Amino acid sequence: MEDDINMRKSLQIAMADFKEFEVTTFKNAVDALKVLDDSFELVITDINMPKMDGIEFIKALEGRYDVIIMTGNATLQRAIESIHLGVKDFLLKPFEVDTLIDAIKRVAKMAQIIKKTKQTEPKLNNADTFIATSAKLLKVINIANKVSKTDVSILLQGESGVGKEVFATYIHQHSNRKNKPMISLNMAAIPDNLIESELFGYEKGAFTDAVDKKPGEFEKANGGTLFLDEIAEMPYAVQAKLLRALQEKEIRPLGSSKPIKIDVRIVSATNANLVQKIQNGEFREDLYYRLNTIPLNIPPLRERTEEILPIAKHILEKNCKEYKLGEKIFSQEAQADLLAYKWPGNIRELISVVQRAAILSETNIITADSLYLHNRGL
Ligand SMILES: Nc1ncnc2c1ncn2[C@@H]1O[C@H](COP(=O)(O)OP(=O)(O)O)[C@@H](O)[C@H]1O
Ligand SMILES: [Mg+2]
Repeated sequence: MEDDINMRKSLQIAMADFKEFEVTTFKNAVDALKVLDDSFELVITDINMPKMDGIEFIKALEGRYDVIIMTGNATLQRAIESIHLGVKDFLLKPFEVDTLIDAIKRVAKMAQIIKKTKQTEPKLNNADTFIATSAKLLKVINIANKVSKTDVSILLQGESGVGKEVFATYIHQHSNRKNKPMISLNMAAIPDNLIESELFGYEKGAFTDAVDKKPGEFEKANGGTLFLDEIAEMPYAVQAKLLRALQEKEIRPLGSSKPIKIDVRIVSATNANLVQKIQNGEFREDLYYRLNTIPLNIPPLRERTEEILPIAKHILEKNCKEYKLGEKIFSQEAQADLLAYKWPGNIRELISVVQRAAILSETNIITADSLYLHNRGL
């Protein structure tokens, strides 16, 4: 990867003579992170690059590839500091192609000796609706890719509207359970006294209204994924039962004496501070540790502003098509306002602002005024 186009092109041409290598070039790290999968073995990167610098990029690769750095004198010192990130070789610019080829061969030989077994890294599948360009979000995706194939519990944390449910679905679709159901249950949407029977089901006659037996969501999710949204809202008494179910890998429907074996992967989500809830005695610490094997923190939209305009434009286009509004675009001021606004409701709020503006604007240019962000504290 090299941001200088001439350098990039000449490297690609030179490398083409060496048939044993298949080469893909990228002009920036963000693009590369979206495409890199386990068909790649070696990454050759510059350090000084726009958008995301080489060191950040190497960190985001998390050791999945061998890395060779090519750098100018000024950044060599920094490059060398990156040795603990597993960088295999450094090339000082300018260098001969032969020098690069030698370095590649050396690294390839090392790789053969080490013979790492690599995990498959799924790519984003519906990349057109799930927009990820910021380093922060790509980092989360990277971790999600690593853990989705395992059965560990994942706790998604982040403000409302940041995409927790999107991530839960992503994890399920990239897991070995993808052909089995993913069941979503929102603890905040179910009355407290019904949560237990929703989760575990009941037998006929278990209580007055139980005229027939009903399987719980755990049973429906068997073999698949159970997504427990707004987990902080789960009543304290039910928390103990959930913990027991997870530990014993079996559930007991209300009114039943026969336990049912279950094999369910739990992904839960919250926008609350669970540690605070534990201190207040509202959330069980033992359950927290059980659910939080892998914490995934999804940053708020205002901390990944790179995504604001791509998402806004995508939503605008989608709405214009859906409602047959013709083609519309954002004015420069509108774009500046979208970027400056703090988005307390995150992507969900962005979607509704853009949708309303798309429908209400009289012309094909969405002005800053038609976003109404100034009424919302811009
Ligand atoms: N990276 C993204 N790109 C495009 N749309 C997104 C992205 N993340 C979330 N969304 C959309 O934003 C809305 C809120 O996402 P959701 O997962 O429900 O958030 P949360 O569960 O954190 O409240 C949904 O309509 C979702 O499709
Ligand atoms: Mg949600």
